[in-house]
Amino acid sequence: MSKIAVITGASSGIGQALTIQLCSSFQIIYICGRKLESLKKTIDMCSTNTVELIPIVMDLNDKNSIARAATEILKKGEEIHLLVNNAGQSQRSLAIDTSEEVEAMLMQINYFGPVQLTKLLLHSMRKAKGSKIVITSSIVGKFGYPLRSTYSASKHALHGFFESLRFEEKKNGIFVQFLVIGRVQTQVSVNALTAGGDSYGKMDDGQAGGISAEACAKKIDTALQSNRKEVLIGGKELLMVKFKKYLPFLFYKIAEKESNHV
Ligand SMILES: NC(=O)c1ccc[n+]([C@@H]2O[C@H](COP(=O)([O-])OP(=O)(O)OC[C@H]3O[C@@H](n4cnc5c(N)ncnc54)[C@H](OP(=O)(O)O)[C@@H]3O)[C@@H](O)[C@H]2O)c1
Repeated sequence: MSKIAVITGASSGIGQALTIQLCSSFQIIYICGRKLESLKKTIDMCSTNTVELIPIVMDLNDKNSIARAATEILKKGEEIHLLVNNAGQSQRSLAIDTSEEVEAMLMQINYFGPVQLTKLLLHSMRKAKGSKIVITSSIVGKFGYPLRSTYSASKHALHGFFESLRFEEKKNGIFVQFLVIGRVQTQVSVNALTAGGDSYGKMDDGQAGGISAEACAKKIDTALQSNRKEVLIGGKELLMVKFKKYLPFLFYKIAEKESNHV
C-alpha cells in the first residue's frame, strides 16, 4: 500500500524543505500552497523518482478553496498517513493598530483553515489506522510576544484544538504531534502582515540568525519517527519556553526587557 502525506505551505521555507526531506519516505505527497508555479519549483527540487508529488492550489484564507483542495486530495479514496499543517502567516504590528480584518485573516489562515482541512481529511486518516497530524506551532504558541498578538493567539488556539483532538482520535489510531518552532531562516517575517494588511517586507534579525530550513526539516523528520507529543526545534531562543514553564520570573524579566525595544 502507498504511504501518503499532505503538507501545507510546501511552496516555501520549512514546508518546502520538509517536502524534499520526506520524498524518499512516501509514495505520494500532496503539496499545498496558493501558487501553482511555486509548488512546481518544490517539485523540481526533489530528486527522488519514487515519489509522486501532486500540487494542490489552496488558499487557507478562503473556505471554498480549502473544501476544493480536500475534494481533490480525497478523490482517489486513498488513506492519508500524515498531514502536516504547516502553512501560516506571521504578524508585525501593535495590537492597538491592527485592524479587525487583519486579525480575522490571521485567525483564518493559522487556525480556522487548518481546522477545516483536518476535519475534511479525518475520515481518510482514520482508515489508515496509524496516522499522524503534525502542527507547525511556534514558541509564541507557548507565550505572548510584542507585535505578534493575533499570530500568538492563533498558535495558542491550535494547541487547544489539536490537543483535544488527540484525546478524541486516539481510539481511531490518529496521533497529534506539535512542532514548537523557534527561529528558522525563511521568508516568515518578510511575508508577515502589518496593521493594515500589507506585507512587512523585511527579514528580521531573529529569522536571519535562525537555523536553516533544511536543518529544521531534518529535525522534523526525526520527530516524525517518534511519538513525542511536542518537539521543540530551533536554537537558544527555545530556552524561553523552558523559562516560562520552570522559571517564570526569569522569563518575564527577559521578555519585558525585550518588549522595551518595540
Ligand atoms: N520561520 C520561523 O522562524 C518560524 C517560527 C515559528 C513558526 N513558524 C511557522 O512555520 C510555518 C511555515 O512558515 P515558514 O517559516 O516556512 O514561512 P514562509 O517561508 O513564509 O512559508 C509560509 C508557507 O505558508 C504558505 N501560506 C501562507 N499563507 C497561506 C494561505 N493563505 N493559504 C495557503 N498557504 C499559505 C505559503 O505558501 P504561498 O505563499 O505559496 O501560498 C508558504 O508555503 C508557519 O506556520 C509559521 O508560522 C516559522
